[in-house]
Amino acid sequence: MTRITYIQHISEFEKFINKFNNSVILCDQNSYKHCISLIKLNKTQRIITIKSGEKNKNFKTLEFIIKQLSNFEANRNTVLINVGGGVICDIGGLAAGLYKRGIAFVNIPTTLIAMADASHGGKTGINLNNLKNYAGIFSLPSETLIFATFLKTLQQKHIKSGFAEMLKHGIIADKNYFLQLLNTKIKNDTILIDENFGDFIIKSIEIKNCITANDFTEQNLRKTLNFGHTIGHALETYFIKKNKTHGECVATGIICESYISLKRGLLNNNDFKTIENAITTFFKPLKIESEQIEEISKLTLKDKKNKSKEINCILIKNIGEALFDVEVTEDEIKESIEYYKKSGDS
Ligand SMILES: NC(=O)c1ccc[n+]([C@@H]2O[C@H](COP(=O)([O-])OP(=O)(O)OC[C@H]3O[C@@H](n4cnc5c(N)ncnc54)[C@H](O)[C@@H]3O)[C@@H](O)[C@H]2O)c1
Ligand SMILES: [Zn+2]
Repeated sequence: MTRITYIQHISEFEKFINKFNNSVILCDQNSYKHCISLIKLNKTQRIITIKSGEKNKNFKTLEFIIKQLSNFEANRNTVLINVGGGVICDIGGLAAGLYKRGIAFVNIPTTLIAMADASHGGKTGINLNNLKNYAGIFSLPSETLIFATFLKTLQQKHIKSGFAEMLKHGIIADKNYFLQLLNTKIKNDTILIDENFGDFIIKSIEIKNCITANDFTEQNLRKTLNFGHTIGHALETYFIKKNKTHGECVATGIICESYISLKRGLLNNNDFKTIENAITTFFKPLKIESEQIEEISKLTLKDKKNKSKEINCILIKNIGEALFDVEVTEDEIKESIEYYKKSGDS
């Protein structure tokens, strides 16, 4: 079980990190600049810095991290402290799990996605030729430390990216929470983070913990956390060079997969419209050309959740209730993306 601590003041990190006499920090260029540089560290603290961005969540970077750990003479007692967004938590957790057959790691998330989602639950991984999270292991951090102040320097597109995962938590498990999130203010396309936002982060963590606690290796209920991700991951892979965020693609996936739920007669039209309005309030439509739909749909056939040739999807019954292991066809996927495109064009 991961211990989660909510930090109020940056000085608490100093105490936390300095208590380890054998640790290595992993960060990326931005989390170094905006977060690590604020913490007073011992001069001898070992730090590995990698390039920022999803495109670096790959084998080459993983190898670099493991080599650096070795250059630092890290041993089985070394603790890897991941300070960064979802990419750092994912690749750092995997590096820790592999280095000398496994060392302990701690997550200090610095983006909204990482705070609300990626820094706990124990999924780690990297992409393979842009296919999302194709290599990875389940491995829990010993601790996760949340310091919401780190969000102050985060670009708006990354705030929105995390917000998409939070909406997802509400849609699959808690209608009240979802409706509360809809009161979040947005002005000039900017989500305004007020003092209550920390409570939303805590709620998302609780929902995810509750789901993963009973199904760590994703045999059943945990699959519902992949809602929006069958089509979301296909879009992320397809648009990898266009720098679309994970959450932006998941937000689109949420509409498409809700649309399939509607067409299957699972979701009623009211709930569908509530979900669609929520996403279109917070996210600009993703531009998809007609001739791209075929290839995007094909990419869902490569989704890790698939067991055979069918596409294994999460569908929604009501807001707050999801169904897992639902087989959908490539045509249903295509039709849902066509619907999304048409409603965005109009
Ligand atoms: N393991 C899981 O359960 C899980 C869950 C959700 C998402 N994910 C993964 O998380 C990744 C997306 O996460 P992300 O959006 O955090 O991506 P990210 O780690 O790439 O961070 C987004 C950007 O913000 C920068 N950044 C980080 N902290 C900052 C700060 N405080 N101020 C300014 N800039 C900062 C980063 O350098 C990067 O450029 C995807 O790879 C996704 O697959 C994993
Ligand atoms: Zn996600």
